[in-house]
Order: sequence, then C-alpha cells, then structure tokens
Amino acid sequence: MTGHVTRMRRMRRTEALRSLVRETHLRPESLIYPLFIVPGEGVRKPISSMPGVFNVSVDEALKDAAECVELGLGGLLLFGLPPEKDEQGSGAWDEQGIMQTALRAIKRESGLKSLVTIADVCLCEYTSHGHCGIVARDGEEYAVENDSSVRLIAKTAASLAEAGADIVAPSDMMDGRVEAIRAALDEGGHQQTPIMSYAAKFASAFYGPFREAADSAPQFGDRKTYQMDGANRREAMREIEQDLLEGADMILMKPAMPYLDVLKEARDRYEVPIGAYQVSGEYSMLVAAFERGWLERERAIIESLLSLRRAGADFIVTYFAKEAGRALG
Ligand code: PBG
Repeated sequence: MTGHVTRMRRMRRTEALRSLVRETHLRPESLIYPLFIVPGEGVRKPISSMPGVFNVSVDEALKDAAECVELGLGGLLLFGLPPEKDEQGSGAWDEQGIMQTALRAIKRESGLKSLVTIADVCLCEYTSHGHCGIVARDGEEYAVENDSSVRLIAKTAASLAEAGADIVAPSDMMDGRVEAIRAALDEGGHQQTPIMSYAAKFASAFYGPFREAADSAPQFGDRKTYQMDGANRREAMREIEQDLLEGADMILMKPAMPYLDVLKEARDRYEVPIGAYQVSGEYSMLVAAFERGWLERERAIIESLLSLRRAGADFIVTYFAKEAGRALG
C-alpha cells in the first residue's frame, strides 16, 4: 500500500479520542426555552402543531422554569397571549398585562435566579389584526406604519424591563426600534437592561406553528413589508449593522437551520454575542419525522443544535431546550 501518511480515521477510533478533538460543544447553559404564557390558573394547553409544547398559565410556567433551572439551562424567552386584543395592541404595555405578571412572578422566586428572563417585544400577539405594528387601512389597501409602531414597541419594552425582564428582545422588524427602545429604557432607569434584537428575521413559512401557539397570525396580508426576504444575505448584514449602530447589545438570527450561511457570515463579521432561534416550524418538522419513526430523536435534536453552534451561534433558542438539556446532562 502506498503511504497513507494522513489517516483521518486515527482520531476517530474511540469515543475518548473523538471527544478530545471535538471542536464545538453544546451546553445546557447556552440553551433558551421559549414559554407561551396565557391567563388563568392551572392551564397547560397543548399546541396541536407543536407536540410537546404548551400554552401555560403563570403558575404552570413557574414549574417549567424550575425544571429549566434543574437542567442548568441558560434562560427563558417569554411570549404573552393577552385575554383581549385591540387595534393598537395595548395589552403589550399594560402594567397588569400577561407578560408583566409572568415576569414579576418569575422574579419573585429566588430559586429561579440562575435563569435569564428574555421578554419578546412585539405587538402581533396583542393586536386584533395580528400584525406587528399599527395598521393604517384604506379600503382593501393597508400599510403597517413604522414610526407610530416604534413608539408603542419602545413603550412595551420599557414596561417589560420595569416588570423584571433581564433582556428585551424586539422581534417586530420595524426600522429604528432599537434606538427608540434604548431611549425608552434609559429614560425609565433601565440603563443596564440589554437589548437583544432579532436583527435578521426573515419572512418565513417556518413560523407557521408559532402563529397557533401565540395566536398571532395576521388576519389579512402577510409580514413581507417588514420581515426580510429569504433570498437576501447582504441585506441581513445591513440589518445587523444598523441594529448595532442603534445600540443593540446582542443579536438573534431566525429561522436557524435554513439560514446557516447568514449566521456564519454574521459570526465572521461581528464581535457581538449572536443567538440562533430554531423556530417553531423547524421544531415541528423534526417532531413529525420522529413521530413517524423516520429520524432518531435524540441524535437528530443534538445534531441540529450543534449545527447552529458550529455556524457561530453563542446561544440557541429552541423548543427542544429541556429535552436537549436532559440529553446533555
Ligand atoms: C413575533 C414573533 C414570531 C416568532 C417570534 N416572535 C412570529 C412571527 O414573526 O410571525 C416566531 C417564532 C417561531 O416560529 O418559533 N413577531
């Protein structure tokens, strides 16, 4: 045999060797678990398009949070489903609102201190039309207004920080919202509250199941005038650049697996903490394959999450967070 000086398989021979040379690691503390909070008590309502994910009332959410602590997870990403919706989404900044109530309850529990509470900031769960901002209508025509939406989004962010959010995470994709949120936070005395902007958020079919979970499907039209076109990588870099200039402390990319190239490029260009959001459709797609016995559950979950770490994500938001935490533990 001619000399195979380089034999890549030498380092794959045993698990001990493989783990010694492993380049990327997945840790429970870099996983964030999303929670959908609903009014009431003792509520744990299954979301049909996301088997294993539930709408939970605040008391139940505390149990999930305690489980996350036990598993050593990094944090929670909170979404609220208000009891009532209106044109403006006024439930979003209501001091007694669903998110504010949940945040205060979580912050009261000393056992939950190791979790970072991240509040998703958007109006779509709170507006009757399901858009992420204020809608101006003229017959059949409609437009999602930017600047008036930004004012309400900034007010919402300040209210969530006041209720105890460790991080606020705007997911609306309006222009100028990071700057407005920073100003509103500072004015409210929350100079130390970081902003994690969903900087590059694509208009994606993979959010489908979330819209059931958060009851936030647009009642007309779509989100393409504010979320990004999935074809655009360079534009994503401009979005990130802009949010950083406006004062974003960290950025979130979503969806995750269909946009690994964008994640990698963001990693190469920017020295800020970057998160990847493995969204509802990515979750449901995998779960559907598990339910049919087509994919090996634990291995596929870990591999999907590892791909995001390899592409450059510092942390990952995933509906698999608890399960992955268990597998890693
Ligand atoms: C709210 C928001 C959405 C998601 C996170 N924040 C939905 C959307 O933009 O339609 C999607 C998360 C997921 O699919 O898991 N704007």
